[in-house]
Amino acid sequence: MSKKEFAHDEEAQVNDMRSYYAFQAKIYDLTRWTFLYGRKTILQKLPFDKDAPLKILEVGCGTGINMVEIAKIYPNAHIVGMDVSGDMLRQAGKNLEAYNDRIELLEKPYGGNDDYNKQFDLILFSYSLTMINPQYVDLIHQAKKDLKEGGYVAVVDFHKANFGFYRKFMKGNHVKLEGQVLPVLLEAFEPVLCKIKPGLVGVWNYLMFLGK
Ligand SMILES: C[S@@+](CC[C@H](N)C(=O)[O-])C[C@H]1O[C@@H](n2cnc3c(N)ncnc32)[C@H](O)[C@@H]1O
Repeated sequence: MSKKEFAHDEEAQVNDMRSYYAFQAKIYDLTRWTFLYGRKTILQKLPFDKDAPLKILEVGCGTGINMVEIAKIYPNAHIVGMDVSGDMLRQAGKNLEAYNDRIELLEKPYGGNDDYNKQFDLILFSYSLTMINPQYVDLIHQAKKDLKEGGYVAVVDFHKANFGFYRKFMKGNHVKLEGQVLPVLLEAFEPVLCKIKPGLVGVWNYLMFLGK
């Protein structure tokens, strides 16, 4: 398979991610704040009581940046971070040292044989679904099953590239920018918040979605 193609099965997708993030993990926190918009904002939109003993999952937690933020906002939350890249999770372990007692980091892909049936108050996908091709559809439906009654899914991610050159560039970085995620979210969840916002100088736009 050419490096420019999206992986066509789960094993290939996971292997692509492990190779890609072996180097990117080292520069991730230094670089991504410049263009992964909306990550803090989506967390501020969550409807939970700050003291609630929430159980939260972040799928594709990367270096744990969002988990640190969640841990600060919700001091009684237990937060599970799942990712396929051991290199990213090692960074997450360092970033989350202060919160060790209520953090779990799991090195594995989401879905499959896990039985998290109705366990979580919140499942967060932050800039992960557009990289999880083709499994993103299954993962969204899995999240629906794994949320408690009244639980929320929160998604912040790229939506669509407005120019072909950028779509190709991002494809080379394993990101699919074709507006493919939103229709699946709308099929699975009732939206509480759904906004498409302009990204860098209108080259792409990004999605903020909160659903029940
Ligand atoms: C762009 S990073 C986002 C990291 C973090 N959520 C953030 O907002 O900074 C995408 C992450 O998704 C992870 N990932 C990719 N495929 C995955 C899968 N099938 N299951 C779980 N995590 C996956 C990657 O390893 C990577 O750490």
